[in-house]
Amino acid sequence: MTLYRATMMDVPGDPFAEEPAGLLAVESDGGLLVRDGVIVERGAYADVRGSHPGEEVTDLRGGVLLPGFVDTHVHFPQIRAIGGLGMPLLDWLHRCALPEEARLADRSYAEAVAGEFLHGLVSSGTTTALVFGSHFAEAMDALFDAAAASGLRITAGQVSSDRVLPALLLTTAEHARDEGRALIERWHGKGRLRYAVTPRFSLSASEPLLDVCEELLQTPGTWFTTHINENTAEVDQVATYFPARTHYLDTYQHHNLITDRSVLAHNVHATDHELEVMAEALAWAAHCPTSNAALGSGLFPLRRHVKYGVGVALGSDVGAGTGFSLLKEGLQAYFAQQLLGPAGYPLTPVHLLYLATGAGARALGLADQVGDLGVGKQFDAAWLRPQPRSTLDVVLGHATDANDALAKIFALGTPADVAGVWVGGQQLHSAGEGPMPSPCSPYSRPQEAA
Ligand code: GUN
Ligand code: ZN
Repeated sequence: MTLYRATMMDVPGDPFAEEPAGLLAVESDGGLLVRDGVIVERGAYADVRGSHPGEEVTDLRGGVLLPGFVDTHVHFPQIRAIGGLGMPLLDWLHRCALPEEARLADRSYAEAVAGEFLHGLVSSGTTTALVFGSHFAEAMDALFDAAAASGLRITAGQVSSDRVLPALLLTTAEHARDEGRALIERWHGKGRLRYAVTPRFSLSASEPLLDVCEELLQTPGTWFTTHINENTAEVDQVATYFPARTHYLDTYQHHNLITDRSVLAHNVHATDHELEVMAEALAWAAHCPTSNAALGSGLFPLRRHVKYGVGVALGSDVGAGTGFSLLKEGLQAYFAQQLLGPAGYPLTPVHLLYLATGAGARALGLADQVGDLGVGKQFDAAWLRPQPRSTLDVVLGHATDANDALAKIFALGTPADVAGVWVGGQQLHSAGEGPMPSPCSPYSRPQEAA
């Protein structure tokens, strides 16, 4: 067993359902006892140490230990496309994303990108992700292979489209069925990997292809993900391709793809009807705030999602999103709600941490295992320890309480501040060794050894 000593914070409840102020669980000098990757005891360090005097201690004082982040929408083949600014969705797809995605037809290119992609996730503190894959089955093998070796919790699927996109990226319903079945057989349920059925969006998916998605989704434990209601031009085009459907959501719902295993990315322009249907189905929205801002897609109607009872978690949406950090996504989510004025939802730091952790765990059906640092959960954690004298270090040193410290972490934290990452008790990332700075605040500096 290992006893981790740290200042720790998590949000075990749902701040959209309960009063957020009471939901931030904080141990300013805490102890987490971990056996076989699972948290078996949690409390004040002195208490846990007192009952386990012989266990090995990993000292993570200085900074804050958070649950590992859960990214519910991120594109494997788009890491090298990050930063294509100045275009709305459909132009950006054709000019930036799709030409890059076509390069993954080459297996060795895909292997290189898979390595970069997984490093991008873990080095940002993300331990679990729902990954939008590649159009190419071989590239998916490269991703799953690398993901298995990485130790991260990855749910991913081959992207399918049979119209609208460049020819190299198109499949047929039959081919998508064969490749999907083979990938499920090879990877679904292997270690921490699962398969997600992933039509790109209904704009690029015919009815027969969506039928195949329904078929693949019959495999127990598979997930469903796609895009919806991101951009008004996209919404209009979907309407012309599906004259028999009154709402974008119906293009999926008609094929029984909207269930409690569905995560729909964006949903910026959702109608009330769609929110009602999603809520009833227990489907989740992946909110991708930097992407929505970068592509000018719009300001996410969080208040309406909450009103209808639709679960919302965060997605980085790399590469339309501007990086892997869910701290940045949380901050941008906050900005978007501020910009909506009275129509916005007043997000607190507790909401932001929940959106980046527990909400994603629920969206992915993994809340019994990850999302917070409670007893019985896997030890999936991100240790944020700011660089000495960095602005984050300075302001954390002056944090008045845990809530204030958390606000500062979302305002200023970056992947450079992620000093260590664990999944199932296994350390997957370390930003380097060396002595800690001297004691000052429980949020930024180590305290005196007891
Ligand atoms: N809609 C269809 N494909 C994509 C994509 O790759 N990124 C985003 N943001 N939206 C999409
Ligand atoms: Zn996306």
